[in-house]
Amino acid sequence: MSDTAILEINGEKHEFPLITGTENEVAMDIKTLRSVTKGVTTLDPGYKNTGSCESAITFLDGEKGILRYRGYSIEELAEKADFLEVSYLLIFGELPNSEQLEKFHTDIKDQSIVDDDVKKILDAFPKTAHPMGVLSSLTSALTAFNPSCVNVDSKEDMYNSVVRILGKFPVLVAWTMRKKQGLPLDYGDKKLGYVENVLKMMFKKPNEDYVQNPILINALDKLLILHADHEQNCSTSTVRIVGSSHAGLFASISAGISALWGPLHGGANQAVLEMLEAIKEDGGDTKKYMAKAKDKNDPFRLMGFGHRVYKNFDPRAKIIKVAADEVLGDLGVDDPILDVAKGLEKEALEDKYFVDRKLYPNVDFYSGIIYRGMGIPTDMFTVMFALGRLPGWIAQWSEMRLKKEPIGRPRQLYIGENERAYKNIKKR
Ligand code: SDX
Repeated sequence: MSDTAILEINGEKHEFPLITGTENEVAMDIKTLRSVTKGVTTLDPGYKNTGSCESAITFLDGEKGILRYRGYSIEELAEKADFLEVSYLLIFGELPNSEQLEKFHTDIKDQSIVDDDVKKILDAFPKTAHPMGVLSSLTSALTAFNPSCVNVDSKEDMYNSVVRILGKFPVLVAWTMRKKQGLPLDYGDKKLGYVENVLKMMFKKPNEDYVQNPILINALDKLLILHADHEQNCSTSTVRIVGSSHAGLFASISAGISALWGPLHGGANQAVLEMLEAIKEDGGDTKKYMAKAKDKNDPFRLMGFGHRVYKNFDPRAKIIKVAADEVLGDLGVDDPILDVAKGLEKEALEDKYFVDRKLYPNVDFYSGIIYRGMGIPTDMFTVMFALGRLPGWIAQWSEMRLKKEPIGRPRQLYIGENERAYKNIKKR
């Protein structure tokens, strides 16, 4: 393959370098496009064909259904690693040895106290507030309580801000859930593992001891690993572009939480459960919902299906589907929703509309079934997605800042009015 691309505009030829990545992906470097063509830019709504950055964190192959974090396959990490190990890998680039992992966890635990005044902000929310809106606000509020901007040129400062948010975020997640349930806010226990502590903060009842359930611990650990990063998805691109203005890490992550909330993105896991419930209530009439999903006049989409990058099975969905059976079986939960999901999946995988458009189940299709089986409320599903995605957001934000990338500021194609003179109101 040649190492340049040639673009001919108005009879003038322009050469642009072709860059090949470590997995043999090829990108055309158009950094000089506008200047050499005297103003021509590209147009690519949704950035379906546009790379925003070079990144060494996560590799996806949508055609082959491959997902790797720092070169390690998601299948191996989900089976052999734990979430804190994977967080360290994503953020610092290498799997930690036991000493590094222990120090990482200790430093995170030392940061797992949230200023009591944050509770006043939480109190101000109505119990009906959606947990993602609460979480985004509380995360942004952390900036007020930890105002020191991250000095990205200081390794120590960067490390401290990483362990600070990894320590405080799970507390905010648990508080967000307990606020809706009218339960006292819990701080968990420094003697526990990262995921054990999350579960205890979320589920401990004030009048009884909390008994850890290894099934829940393993299930949540695996789900958090599977959600930890996914290259330049909507919410990660949001974290990167907000951070590119040199806004702080907490503020950037707060913006990412808002982007993840949308039902086309992380909010899909909640929308999937609501859809499956509706189908069950409707007598399990999957054909009606398949028809709605294919009807261009109907805004309904089959939630949990389709993906911008995966045009094959989402490898995470495969792992979560197996885990759903295991976890519900181990918990002794017989959830008819799982059968509705499997019926819908089978139908969609045999339907020409879905097959032609390569619409497969994505990470959100089965995850909510496990969360529900674990006793997590439906409107908390996307909060759990955010908890998993946190290390990925941190890693991507850090990579962008450490590479001193320019502020993100896309161009546009103006299609509005040409110049016109102001008209006095009496003449309008
Ligand atoms: C996540 O990017 C990531 O990596 C995200 C994520 C991550 O880890 O960060 O993987 C997490 O967000 C997973 C996706 C969760 N969202 C959903 O499950 C919502 C339902 N899915 C869709 O809305 C849709 O598939 C998207 C948003 C996921 C992807 O949309 P694209 O890439 O913009 O594709 P498109 O809308 O252009 O669809 C192409 C065609 C269209 O039909 P035609 O115009 O060709 O006739 O497929 C159709 C769409 O109408 N289509 C669907 C569909 N998804 C796409 N039709 C019915 N049901 C669907 N779910």
